[in-house]
Amino acid sequence: MNDKELIDTEDQNLAPVYQKFPIVLEKGDDCYVWDSSGKKYLDLMAGYGVSLLGHSNEKIVQAISDQAKQLTSCHGSFYNEQRARASININKITPKHLDNIYLCNSGAEAVEAALKLCKKHSKNKIISMSGSYHGKTIGSLSLTWSPKYKKSFKPLLDDVDFISFGSSDSLSEINDETGAVFLEVIQGESGVKFASVEYFKQLQEQCTKHNVLLVVDEIQTGLGRTGKMWAHEHYGLVPDILCIGKGLAGGMPVGAMISRSDSTNFSLGEHTTTFGGNPLTSSAINASIEFLLSNNIINNAEQSGEIFLNGLKKLKSEYDSVRDVRGLGLMLALESKFPIKDLLFDGLNNGLIMLYSGRTILRFLPPLTLNEAQVNSVLQILNTLLQNSKKD
Ligand SMILES: Cc1ncc(COP(=O)(O)O)c(C=O)c1O
Repeated sequence: MNDKELIDTEDQNLAPVYQKFPIVLEKGDDCYVWDSSGKKYLDLMAGYGVSLLGHSNEKIVQAISDQAKQLTSCHGSFYNEQRARASININKITPKHLDNIYLCNSGAEAVEAALKLCKKHSKNKIISMSGSYHGKTIGSLSLTWSPKYKKSFKPLLDDVDFISFGSSDSLSEINDETGAVFLEVIQGESGVKFASVEYFKQLQEQCTKHNVLLVVDEIQTGLGRTGKMWAHEHYGLVPDILCIGKGLAGGMPVGAMISRSDSTNFSLGEHTTTFGGNPLTSSAINASIEFLLSNNIINNAEQSGEIFLNGLKKLKSEYDSVRDVRGLGLMLALESKFPIKDLLFDGLNNGLIMLYSGRTILRFLPPLTLNEAQVNSVLQILNTLLQNSKKD
């Protein structure tokens, strides 16, 4: 198929739910991807943060292909060594008090599982945050803030209230009537939005005081993205339930919800899924966690992230069109005073794939293997793009 045929075929046959770039990607290697014409791009989007350990990471490819020859599917009703090892590996990197893992196939499924668990343990209201994104299934959508995603699907769950993310005043709404709070520590889809250490301290106190389950969604922020294994570590938060996904299986579809076996747990048959914890994905989880832990990846995210953020700050000081820059580790954003659509497309022309959040925010979620030279080349291209947009 040539590019035109291929694009037309996708457009005709698939649900039109994605904002498409007119580019056909053919292969990837670490921080780079290539399109069908052979053009090379530095990938700062990494499939919305999925290719955490780089595209086609050798160790992960090897693990998947070895396992594919052995056994790909093994329902949860049987035992399998890859799944057992995945549980050990996930336990190794998650907080000690969280010892019970539910394996599934996407972030939204991990959030759904957490939601069901909260409903099982409390009939009280659930609180979510303004600006939050937790997925688009009916349950996770009920916890997601954006009215534009929700408007066609009402009524959603009616026991979810939203409070203002980052506002200490709103924390009084967490009270004895609350069963659980769902939280993204740094809000990704909203444009890399932060709250203060003091706010999180108060939020944790409120949850403890009123016996409220704190569900931390680290689907985007987790696994070293922010320069620590978990973003909640930056703020001293203690989750009762943790949701993870994205890069956990090196690009294979995955989600996981981790809770306390002694207090928040499912029982037989309450929540299951056909593919969860299959040997193929489990082998990818094992290779990913082993790679993450043995290659100084999180330190690299911290260091490259710092250089990246400093470079963005310099751009902000030089260009009036830049309203704000922010980030932690390799989760970063540049907020413009103007729509960034042209910058996005100019970026593509210059070999840079970037992500957007709304109309004015460029978001960067590159592989955590991004090195200093690559950061510098990104900054150089951004400088050129901002320079050119000044002339327009
Ligand atoms: C914080 C957060 N939660 C949940 C999700 C939903 O994950 P998925 O798209 O894998 O269902 C996402 C996806 O971007 C996310 O960023």
